[in-house]
Amino acid sequence: MHGVNLDQLGRRDAAHYGGMTYDHLEQAIAKEAADLGLQPNFFQSNHEGAFVEHLHGLDGLADGIIINPGAWTHYSYAIRDALEIAGLPAVEVHLSDVQAREPFRRVSVIGDLCIATVSGQGPAGYTTALRRLHEELTAAADAA
Ligand code: DQA
Repeated sequence: MHGVNLDQLGRRDAAHYGGMTYDHLEQAIAKEAADLGLQPNFFQSNHEGAFVEHLHGLDGLADGIIINPGAWTHYSYAIRDALEIAGLPAVEVHLSDVQAREPFRRVSVIGDLCIATVSGQGPAGYTTALRRLHEELTAAADAA
């Protein structure tokens, strides 16, 4: 799940986000997911309510979430609450190294709900996140 302004990748500051467009990023993630035997469903919105409602609707449709809420990461308690309601293992991803940027980006209101946070790895961070989620789902299946 990608939040606000991530559809504008390719137009954003390349020093932080690289040059890849959002469509290309989805394609790259889809390929990595397929290699792991995962079936990704993508969602991107610039509307906080739509993002929240998508989280509400995941019950029964998804086993886990990879989430980059963009700037909402830093202040949206509505998205935090919806992620908690979704109740699925989630990995937080940021293309840029949020800990090395402005102080407001060092705060994540969703981080403690996630099994892992990956930041500063660019598009490769999604591969790290997919592997981590895959590990989690495999461990849960083995324990069941
Ligand atoms: C981001 C980091 C956020 O601080 C920023 O607002 C974004 C993208 C990232 O992927 O690095 O929009 O989540």
